[in-house]
Amino acid sequence: MQTSLIMQILNVAELAAIAAAAHNGRGDKHAADAAATEAMRQAFNDIDFSGRIVIGEGERDEAPMLYIGEELGRGWEVYKSPEIDIAVDPLEGTNLCAYNRPNALTTIAIAPRGALLFAPDTYMDKIAAGPALQRAGTLSIDQSPAANVWAVAEALGKPASEVNVCILLRDRHRELIAAVREAGARVRLIDDGDVFGAIATAVPGTGIDLYLGSGGSPEGVLAATGLKAIGGFFEGRFAFGEDEKAAEKRRRAEEMVAGTAIDLDGVLPRDALVSSDTAAFIACGVTDGEMLEGVHIDPSGSVSTHSIIMNAADRTVRFIKTIRRGESGIIRF
Ligand code: FBP
Repeated sequence: MQTSLIMQILNVAELAAIAAAAHNGRGDKHAADAAATEAMRQAFNDIDFSGRIVIGEGERDEAPMLYIGEELGRGWEVYKSPEIDIAVDPLEGTNLCAYNRPNALTTIAIAPRGALLFAPDTYMDKIAAGPALQRAGTLSIDQSPAANVWAVAEALGKPASEVNVCILLRDRHRELIAAVREAGARVRLIDDGDVFGAIATAVPGTGIDLYLGSGGSPEGVLAATGLKAIGGFFEGRFAFGEDEKAAEKRRRAEEMVAGTAIDLDGVLPRDALVSSDTAAFIACGVTDGEMLEGVHIDPSGSVSTHSIIMNAADRTVRFIKTIRRGESGIIRF
């Protein structure tokens, strides 16, 4: 993805984070999500590109903004404007923001048209790790948690007892958590936000080596895009469940992947979620966390944001701190 466009998309993620951060710790996750979504949409519409939402806030009839299929940007006014597919979670970790817990993020993945999987709104079993684990056959979603822990230990050259596995704290993960501990590894439980959990495996300093467990499929596509950009590992598999909504979710998923080679019950390798070699992932911190600081407002009114850009096109990872001038006109570093 071109650097000039990337910087404009970065601006989108930052503005959404600033809007969401006004709600940090105020206990209203819907207000926080709405603020991020509205700011994100407005900022996308200021860009000279032809954007199309493939993963967003839901179907057109249930989401007024950033719904699947929504066209964004001023591309129609511009000669040969780039045609870009967009996956967003405007506020990843709505509760994290509402209760001021670590690692609430605004997240965006962009790719050339057709390169991102139209992921249905269902669970996905996931396994993710950083570039040290990218060699084929080392990790597998079909392997036992213990085999995956030991593979990570070997690749990172440390004992299993020093491997840190991030898992969402959910009842459905009880057995998984026990199996990981049984294998000797440490478990880092998170309340929410598995895009962070998966991406953090590739970011030194977060202390996370492996991500395991099920979370949203849309979040899977976002994480896979970031990991692909830096040569990390990701595999997923849709988990439709067995409740009364399962059949409807599967039917909708069949529609969404029609005409592709996607097997709804099979393993989805990273590149099935994001097929382009030029896709990019961008996240901006809303609350403070191990990977990114959140939004901070200086007494002078300067607003600082911290973001990460993982761009496959120019093979870079950028950590960007941006400071915006406040009302006083002063920028404090
Ligand atoms: P929201 O941002 O929509 O609140 O989702 C947060 C999240 O924790 C995701 O990171 C994760 O993929 C999903 O929810 C897990 O879903 P559930 O809470 O149903 O287990």
